[in-house]
Amino acid sequence: MKGIVLAGGAGTRLYPLTMVTSKQLLPVYNKPMIYYPLSTLMLARIRDILIISTKEDTPNIIKLLGDGSQFGIKLSYKVQERPEGLAQAFTLGKDFIGDDSCAMVLGDNIFYGNGLGRKLAAAAKTTEEGMASIFGYYVEDPERFGIMEFNRKSDGFEESYEVVSVEEKPKNPKSNYAIVGLYFYPKGVSEMAAQVKPSARGELEITTLNDMYLKQGRLQAQLLGRGFTWMDAGTVDSLRRATNFVCMIEQYQGMTISAPEEIAFRLGWIDADQLEESAIKYGKSPYGEHLRAVLEGKVIS
Ligand code: DAU
Repeated sequence: MKGIVLAGGAGTRLYPLTMVTSKQLLPVYNKPMIYYPLSTLMLARIRDILIISTKEDTPNIIKLLGDGSQFGIKLSYKVQERPEGLAQAFTLGKDFIGDDSCAMVLGDNIFYGNGLGRKLAAAAKTTEEGMASIFGYYVEDPERFGIMEFNRKSDGFEESYEVVSVEEKPKNPKSNYAIVGLYFYPKGVSEMAAQVKPSARGELEITTLNDMYLKQGRLQAQLLGRGFTWMDAGTVDSLRRATNFVCMIEQYQGMTISAPEEIAFRLGWIDADQLEESAIKYGKSPYGEHLRAVLEGKVIS
């Protein structure tokens, strides 16, 4: 399975913070925002990743992340000339995706929770079998998001969720469950995305693509319930909340979250020498110290 981090857009909601830099390179507490979505794809066991961004921002993202070998992954880059919609990622990524399945995470979306990796790896597996997967998260302000309406089913052991409808930023939302910015699609997604028509607001909506899978009976949903946190960090206020959240989690737990080098090391994608090389590169920063603690076996998981 391939993965895409969509890290473009003008970031105007964060002006003047984003006038000379990319939103996805801004700090969320102690690391650049893009480390979080990248970690999410890595936790889903995805190692071949395309980063899509603007012409202006791509060189800086390359400067930060390079070819990905320090994380035991392969990174490629593609420029999106204009922010014409999330579904465009799959037509821009057509050659990269080839005949594979593909996940996409939005570059300003932060996911956290124990067992997240296992949940995502399971979704990746069903995607290989032909189903698209979306995730719902309870929100108080559903008119700001893509929303899913669903029926809850239970066989006494496991719960499942049958999607009834998906709507982008509805005026009268049918539920309080936002569709988070992490999507898994089976092979053929570029061809499906090429059929998406611009919405009334002129965008190639991801929700239109999800609706196409729904109509074909190929869309499944899971909920990110208690124990999981999802946030987008695309506004001044949500960026502050994300920073506060990461700071609080790291201080209470005493360990750093969403460190791609640590994930790679634990998954066996890089060895101790490579981890040490990164720890040295980060110098005396708390992030570098965390990598050294992982290396010395002081932090177990
Ligand atoms: O965050 C989850 C929500 O993301 C979903 O619930 C919605 O269904 C989905 O449409 C999206 O809504 P947003 O209003 O947050 O989308 P926005 O236009 O802000 O784009 C999300 C990110 O993707 C943002 O960081 C910029 C980037 N982007 C956006 C567009 C439209 C691109 O890189 N290229 C684009 O063409």
